[in-house]
Amino acid sequence: VNVRQFDGGREFEPEAAALLAAAERVLRSGQYVVGDEVAAFEAEFADRVGGGFAVSCASGTDALWLALRGAGVEPGQRVVTTPFTFVATGATIINLGAVPVFVDVDDASLMLDAQRCREVLAGPDGGDVQAVVPVHLFGAPAPVHDFPDGVPVVEDAAQAFGTLVGSHCAGAVGLCGAFSFFPTKNLGGFGDGGVVFTRDASLADRLRRLRAHGASRKYYSEEIGTNSRLDALQAALLRVRLATIEDRLKRRAVIAENYDSALAGIDGIRLPWRPDRGTHSFNQYVIRVVDGRRDHVQSVLRDRGVETAVYYPVPLHLQPAFAHLGYRSGDFPNAERATTEVLALPMYPTLDDAEIAYVAEAVAAAVR
Ligand SMILES: Cc1ncc(COP(=O)(O)O)c(C=O)c1O
Repeated sequence: VNVRQFDGGREFEPEAAALLAAAERVLRSGQYVVGDEVAAFEAEFADRVGGGFAVSCASGTDALWLALRGAGVEPGQRVVTTPFTFVATGATIINLGAVPVFVDVDDASLMLDAQRCREVLAGPDGGDVQAVVPVHLFGAPAPVHDFPDGVPVVEDAAQAFGTLVGSHCAGAVGLCGAFSFFPTKNLGGFGDGGVVFTRDASLADRLRRLRAHGASRKYYSEEIGTNSRLDALQAALLRVRLATIEDRLKRRAVIAENYDSALAGIDGIRLPWRPDRGTHSFNQYVIRVVDGRRDHVQSVLRDRGVETAVYYPVPLHLQPAFAHLGYRSGDFPNAERATTEVLALPMYPTLDDAEIAYVAEAVAAAVR
């Protein structure tokens, strides 16, 4: 392979000295679990996202779990979400004993369709819906403002650090937002990590309790929670990343523009959707290859040394893990078509201009 779809080792290099110094500081401090590094990271993160509270935890999956608990989701209740997402979004709902209610995505944006959500909420089972979970897929903004008032919105912002929804940061529009620091994310760490962001101080307190086995005072648990914390080491590394994030977000935008102009007008592909309100942070640059040629195009690209990825090959409602919910093929045509067309091109800030040109030219040739 000449061009990787993501290259974590390469992303480390430009900041190697600062990252190694941060790691050494933590290792010498003797404080590895919670403590000053974690508190400082939470404050800096909250400041960047919108001045509320950031409650860190062990992964984006745990952030979703905490956020849904915080939204009051109880066993047996329904939670509306998209079938075109990473498995964590739907699995977390099931892990809470709640029931995912899938609603199709909009064909152009691939975001949870707000109009269809309104219909479900107004329908016979709408009263049991305790939360709506839109996903800011690939770093594009989901239409959070268009969901009906009255039902808590938990934003899955795992892929959307740096995205604007209207004039607010993704993850800071609804009741709360779940972020992931998995290495491929815009604010990628060096292992697993996550945050729940909220502007609600008492919700933040409850989330802090839930991540520490429901105890606000050590060894005195008020409710059942879990152990989900961000390591001090990870927090220190993420602070280095956060200090320089704007440059990397800008580079993602430039890469996306370069791809857009190089790929414009090629028959057989659709370029990524662009929002007219808000911004796309391009965690992934995902084209759609139409006419059933996606897998062919992917294998031609592989032969030319270009690694690509399919996010996601199977919608959640057709995964065996969700079979008990009783959905069938054909239930969500937009999501199902998307799974056959999407192709994520290489996208990370250290990708250079020659590589972008090479990838674009290889795509053009593969589609022909
Ligand atoms: C949309 C979405 N939701 C949730 C997650 C879960 O995050 P994590 O992998 O940090 O648990 C991810 C990332 O993998 C994601 O892309």
